[in-house]
Amino acid sequence: NAGALWGGRFASGPAEAMAALSKSTHFDWVLASYDVRASKAHARVLNSAGLLTAGDLESMLTGLDQLAADVYSGAFGPAESDEDVHGALERGLIDRVGPELGGRLRAGRSRNDQVATLFRMWLRDAVRRVSAGVLDVVEALTAQAQAHPDAAMPGKTHSQAAQPVLLAHHLLAHTHPLLRDVQRFRDFDGRAAVSPYGSGALAGSSLGLDPEKIAAELGFDGSAENSIDATSSRDFAAEAAFVLAMTAVDLSRLAEEIVSWSTPEYGYVTLADAWSTGSSIMPQKKNPDVAELTRGKTGRLIGNLTGLLATLKAQPLAYNRDLQEDKEPVFDSVLQLEMLLPALTGLVSTLTFHTDRLRELAPAGFTLATDIAEWLVRNGVPFRHAHEVAGDCVRRAESRGVGLDELTDEEFASIDPALTPEVRAVLTVDGSIGSRDSRGGTAPARVAEQITVVQRTAGEL
Ligand code: ARG
Repeated sequence: NAGALWGGRFASGPAEAMAALSKSTHFDWVLASYDVRASKAHARVLNSAGLLTAGDLESMLTGLDQLAADVYSGAFGPAESDEDVHGALERGLIDRVGPELGGRLRAGRSRNDQVATLFRMWLRDAVRRVSAGVLDVVEALTAQAQAHPDAAMPGKTHSQAAQPVLLAHHLLAHTHPLLRDVQRFRDFDGRAAVSPYGSGALAGSSLGLDPEKIAAELGFDGSAENSIDATSSRDFAAEAAFVLAMTAVDLSRLAEEIVSWSTPEYGYVTLADAWSTGSSIMPQKKNPDVAELTRGKTGRLIGNLTGLLATLKAQPLAYNRDLQEDKEPVFDSVLQLEMLLPALTGLVSTLTFHTDRLRELAPAGFTLATDIAEWLVRNGVPFRHAHEVAGDCVRRAESRGVGLDELTDEEFASIDPALTPEVRAVLTVDGSIGSRDSRGGTAPARVAEQITVVQRTAGEL
């Protein structure tokens, strides 16, 4: 059959269910343009090695360009008889340049080194697109931080009111993991930039082809040191799947907060109409679906990573057909993030923050108690005792149903003589936030510096 890359030793073709099981054109077609590019590079090294005349090379390259154009326009696609994208493209080339010339291209290469190379090429490009989308979310968060330079909010630990922080500080806290994810994508790229082409099925080639030349033409830093490793390793794919999943996990933590923040119980934010959905039965509903799909798809990306690792586990060297299962999970993780990232950027950049509500809640739950303790420490009281005293203040205020700043001078003095009326200076949200001016702290000056750092880091990535 025309699309088959093997058959000489077989008396009959594959059974129908065999062919159906084996087939991968429905997902590996996305590699087609990379396959043609690599074929052009391969044709050139065949020519350099004296295995293709200059005229043949010329015709081959013209045929491959036609094929690429037909793939791009949709005029050429996979046929029922094609096992995978590589076989389909060889069939397409033979249609265009004839069997004599078309049959020369496969010399010195195997689908094993081909697919390992093309998958790397596809993934390196995909990860660049995803990185750009992640940086868009970072930019949206940073813009919201800049738009709210002095909005205060209740900082929480254990979901309980902890200490007041700047809203900008909290929003920026989500940018740092995302910037690290983009750095991880960069690191991945450095390791993925090694070309398996020229490794053949597993042992290399006897035809005097130059893998370094192909590697350079395809944008790799170099070619593989070991042909067995090159054709059988997929740690590059697992590494990308991890960073993709980690990115989703980081986004899911932001998403979870947006879900909570947009409830009436919190009342921190209102979502833009364009980035929310309604209910088919409850007319009043406005739902945070972008954030929920972010949470939900994160499970899927984690599954893609663990599925791929399970596929790789204990596979003997070199190539096994199990490896054909490497692509779908990684393709899916990229596809999901490519849908998610622009939506999340839209959602974040159009959030309306209710800064009055946030400020009102900032001191609730006695979040200034630590400020009393630290004020006492600055006045010479050991922290262990200061902690007790501030705890006493909380107990007193709680039993009277008032805030810490509503305790009277007499009450303060009766709790501990060190609690002079001057303590009131730290019993305000702004005083508390402004005092946390250590490096990385929530004081406005530190947060303003941080915005510069985030923007510079993002700009350099
Ligand atoms: N389609 C295969 C894959 O994605 C490549 C073909 C290798 N087939 C083979 N019989 N060696 O991994």
